[in-house]
Amino acid sequence: MVRFPSDFIWGVACASYQCEGGWDADGKGPSIWDDFCHRFGGSPVKNNDNGDIACDSYHRYPEDIALMKRLNIQAYRFSISWARVMPDGDGPLNEAGLDYYDDLVDRLLANGIEPMITLYHWDLPSALQYRGGWLNREMVDIFARYAEVIAKRFKGRVKKYMTINEPQCVALGYYSEGAAPGWRCPEEDVARLFHILALSHSAAQRAIKAVDPEALVGLVPCGKLCCPVEDTPEGRQSAYRATFEMSKEPWRWAFNTNIILDSVILRRYDDSAPAPVRKFAATVPQGDWEAMEAPDFIGINLYNGDMVDAEGRPAALHRGFPRTALKWPVTPEVIHFGPMHLHRRYGLPIMITENGLSCNDIIFRDGKVHDPKRIDFLHRYLTELSKAIAEGVPVMGYLQWSFLDNFEWSSGYDERFGIVYVDYPTLRRIPKDSAAWYARVIATNGDCLNED
Ligand code: BGC
Repeated sequence: MVRFPSDFIWGVACASYQCEGGWDADGKGPSIWDDFCHRFGGSPVKNNDNGDIACDSYHRYPEDIALMKRLNIQAYRFSISWARVMPDGDGPLNEAGLDYYDDLVDRLLANGIEPMITLYHWDLPSALQYRGGWLNREMVDIFARYAEVIAKRFKGRVKKYMTINEPQCVALGYYSEGAAPGWRCPEEDVARLFHILALSHSAAQRAIKAVDPEALVGLVPCGKLCCPVEDTPEGRQSAYRATFEMSKEPWRWAFNTNIILDSVILRRYDDSAPAPVRKFAATVPQGDWEAMEAPDFIGINLYNGDMVDAEGRPAALHRGFPRTALKWPVTPEVIHFGPMHLHRRYGLPIMITENGLSCNDIIFRDGKVHDPKRIDFLHRYLTELSKAIAEGVPVMGYLQWSFLDNFEWSSGYDERFGIVYVDYPTLRRIPKDSAAWYARVIATNGDCLNED
């Protein structure tokens, strides 16, 4: 029986660079993703796509919010473009940028939709990158000052904040060319970067709480989450262990969920930490550990998991395993076991801050966008999520990724994650079949998932 708590929050999520556009509008400063996409000689992004216009949510948000309301959406998680509100990241405010978010928040509230703010979803103001980006320890205070500005502005209107989206993917931009800023740093520097991100989360959380003690603050990691091939007590235990066992392979460790959560919540690194992390850890002063702040909740972005056998070894997926358009395996179990592992280790409430898939959606001859695969995927994942809840994991809500099709980072616009189709030449929004389906899931608080 699929059941969700009566106060469960059903929402959608997106991020500034992926949907806003208006990249240089009304005093906005450049961000590292603007620079990355505009790189002289062509960017590493597919088709040379960029977020200059994206879904043009910067101008079309009233229409988007009206559509959210029609679809019963209860919460919208969006990120603030830091360079839109502070063009240099650490200097004068851009009132026009703040006005945009003011109106966005007010309209959401007027339509009964809870605004949830992510402070940082990867679009660092370029001026801060020139100062070393997240490798510069001054970022801890700089990020806290930015958090304070936002908390002051939205106090009383916004009750949930998320500090940093996927520190693991922030780090990616410092050791691979597939993400901004596209730097290539040694592993030990990347270990330091995670530490600065952990301190920055903590300082931002303190800044928000100083302004608004009632606000809830989350951190949103991603990374390895293991599921047992066979659901036995031993299988579960092995999957739990494998989830938090840090890889020794170069760079693989940077995709562990616990590389950041252990720091801020347990104030240490796991014993399995690889050499570059251990080497860096030896230099961390005690005061740094004391400055760490555990979030109020863990926001988790869940797309697929790693299947492991009873010994916790990676299990091979069979030939022809179901995959999304991006070729990510479809493993609904991850949304059952992932939250369970995280709750067991850290004891905090969980919010599913992203879940969804990319499909090769098209407009059919009838003018509609039929996406039965997305409906099937979401149905499977939500059914599994209800198992975690039934087993006692406090899950606050579920935010589908994404409301609109949008700029999928290095994959550009080829990948469509939305429940609403965006016809990019006209920017027309066409709700897909999954939008009506999700509206019904929300209206019945998930009960309709029991129907077939
Ligand atoms: C990110 C989103 C991204 C989604 C799908 C998450 O890693 O937070 O920005 O679009 O996954 O790739």
